[in-house]
Amino acid sequence: VREAFYIDPTVIFLNNGSFGATPRCVLEASWEWQRELEKQPVNLLVRRAEQLLVDSKQPLATLLGCLATELAWIQNVTFGVNQVAHSLDLGPGDKVLLNNHEYGAVSRTFRYLSLQKGFELCEAALPQDLSNPQQVIDTLVAATDSSTKVWVVSHVTSASALLFPIQEIMQAARRFPGLKVLVDGAHAAGQVPIDLDQLKPDFYVGTLHKWLFCPKGTSFLYVAPQHQASIKPLVIGWNYEPHYATKESQWIYTVQMLGTRDISNFLAVPAALEFSARNPRNLCVNAISSFRKRLGTNFPEAGYSCPLQMVSLKLPSSCNEQELHQWLWSRHKIEVPVHRIGPQAYLRPSFQIYNRQEELESLSQALCTYFGLDLM
Ligand SMILES: Cc1ncc(COP(=O)(O)O)c(C=O)c1O
Repeated sequence: VREAFYIDPTVIFLNNGSFGATPRCVLEASWEWQRELEKQPVNLLVRRAEQLLVDSKQPLATLLGCLATELAWIQNVTFGVNQVAHSLDLGPGDKVLLNNHEYGAVSRTFRYLSLQKGFELCEAALPQDLSNPQQVIDTLVAATDSSTKVWVVSHVTSASALLFPIQEIMQAARRFPGLKVLVDGAHAAGQVPIDLDQLKPDFYVGTLHKWLFCPKGTSFLYVAPQHQASIKPLVIGWNYEPHYATKESQWIYTVQMLGTRDISNFLAVPAALEFSARNPRNLCVNAISSFRKRLGTNFPEAGYSCPLQMVSLKLPSSCNEQELHQWLWSRHKIEVPVHRIGPQAYLRPSFQIYNRQEELESLSQALCTYFGLDLM
């Protein structure tokens, strides 16, 4: 399977989670659209683009259990979170609740806006020894009061690689009238099933390039029907005061019409979804799970175990994580990310279909050498 990707065969690449990897056949599909564009740019970008973007969204809508009219194409999750955050009607006296496992770019967006708009940003700290998904719900509920207007919550967290109980979080949120939930699904699509019709989030932002084999820069924004009219342009141009009738509804036009851009990656999404369907990933989940068991108590995992293609291991408090990261790369050519949440550093290996079990074995051996441990 490795040959289906461009990943350097001399590298032990255990970091699919950061940017994903795109198979050659999907890149070919994207390049084919680029060639088509170059033949007659006006024909593709002016006459055909709108319908092509509607058509390529349809298989994604089916996968996510929603309508294509509830999805806009966006480049990345940072953009989608900004799009929602800037559209929310928030001001002094309002609170937005995040938690300390949320992604840095997302918390920064809300920190910036809280200073601009005057709302209060609260960051709930999840228990250090998180062992049960219910603790996530309890923490969010305990930090909520009548001025809390928005919860921002990951479906799968980044540094700690935890699958949050998103359906139950939505149910808990519904107990607070007027509370909106923005779900950061950057790591969810491709790793866990998503059914937006059942979940009914207010806003859901997800990425297709991490775990669904799509080219970089393919992400989606879901906006529930009752909030679509509130979406304001983040980048202003033709999307403000549209000058011709669009096939798309106004909110999608507002989000997608950002001036001249290359749409070939969005048009290659159906090819990536077909590739994904042909390549089930249960073996990857098993590989990560046995890796986690094998390292045992030497490196406790970040929280309750979840069937994902990545895992987060707690590093000893004495560890200089930047030094470890550099050592793994320079000595062993192992690419694996290290992250930090407050005082706790984490190592977060991923396993994708192009990886081999021996690569996790090499990581285990290297970690044991570095920390002077015996492997069980
Ligand atoms: C949980 C989470 N949210 C948001 C992002 C931001 O994604 P992007 O850099 O594609 O905007 C990431 C990126 O890794 C992430 O892990």
